[in-house]
Amino acid sequence: MEVTLIDGKKTSEAIKQEIAEEVAQIKEQGGKIPHLAAILVGNDGGSLTYVNNKVLACEKVGFKSTLIHLEDSVTEEELLAKVNELNNDADVDGFIVQLPLPKHISAEKVNEILLPEKDVDGFHPVNVGRMVLNLPAYLPATPNGILELLKRYDIETSGKHCVVIGRSNIVGSPMSIMMAKNAKPGNCTVTLCHSRTVNLPEITRTADIIIAAIGIPEFVTADMVKPGAVVIDVGTTRVVSLTKKSGFELKGDVKFDEVASKCSYITPVPGGVGPMTIASLLLNTLRAAKKEVYK
Ligand code: GUN
Repeated sequence: MEVTLIDGKKTSEAIKQEIAEEVAQIKEQGGKIPHLAAILVGNDGGSLTYVNNKVLACEKVGFKSTLIHLEDSVTEEELLAKVNELNNDADVDGFIVQLPLPKHISAEKVNEILLPEKDVDGFHPVNVGRMVLNLPAYLPATPNGILELLKRYDIETSGKHCVVIGRSNIVGSPMSIMMAKNAKPGNCTVTLCHSRTVNLPEITRTADIIIAAIGIPEFVTADMVKPGAVVIDVGTTRVVSLTKKSGFELKGDVKFDEVASKCSYITPVPGGVGPMTIASLLLNTLRAAKKEVYK
């Protein structure tokens, strides 16, 4: 079977182009320029790259962006004060606090005090609850980016068995809920697998769609995949590389080289899901500036 490579980079560029055109129109009409702020704590290499990419993407589509880089040693109180400052800054339409945070800071506390109407990551309990209940909400960027790929590649999901591997708050859990919704894409029968799942390969072999978000490089091997399955790889683990100039390379959760030839569709790493996460964040920020979710 011919496999189609799902090009997240190209798709995200198309979305960014659409956003840029809308921003140009807003500017022409003298409207409010969307403004995204990002808080980064510490110097984790992966997080630095992700946040820088988010800020660069803002510039590319004509948004205003503010990067707030805090020391690893910042106290929880100081970070919460910064979040409150952004809550009260009328020019900031939406903001994110890049995860993971240092161990001495509670991500739950941070997510609870940011204003739901500025929570463009969709992590606040109010946005999560509204998403579950089909009320207008900011949808989490990575799962929403995956839905956008399934939509733009016209991949049938209705009635299919979707196996999500990984139950994180950011990807696996919301993804499983979104794939089960009465929507397009959606209407899947969903199985959510995780580290305690017994006979995981047996379950994945029955999947029409596999969404791997477990954070273990090359976890999904060819023997776990049904011929013709759609495989979405959310993994982005940095591993040491002797051949790359940067000294590392990104590895997905799927053993691409042996799995790809069995699939109908597959996302590469890099260039699959990753760029779509940023495109989704920009879409949420645009919705925030237009007050589309919370009027
Ligand atoms: N860390 C990994 N993914 C994300 C994300 O989508 N948003 C934030 N804030 N942190 C992350």
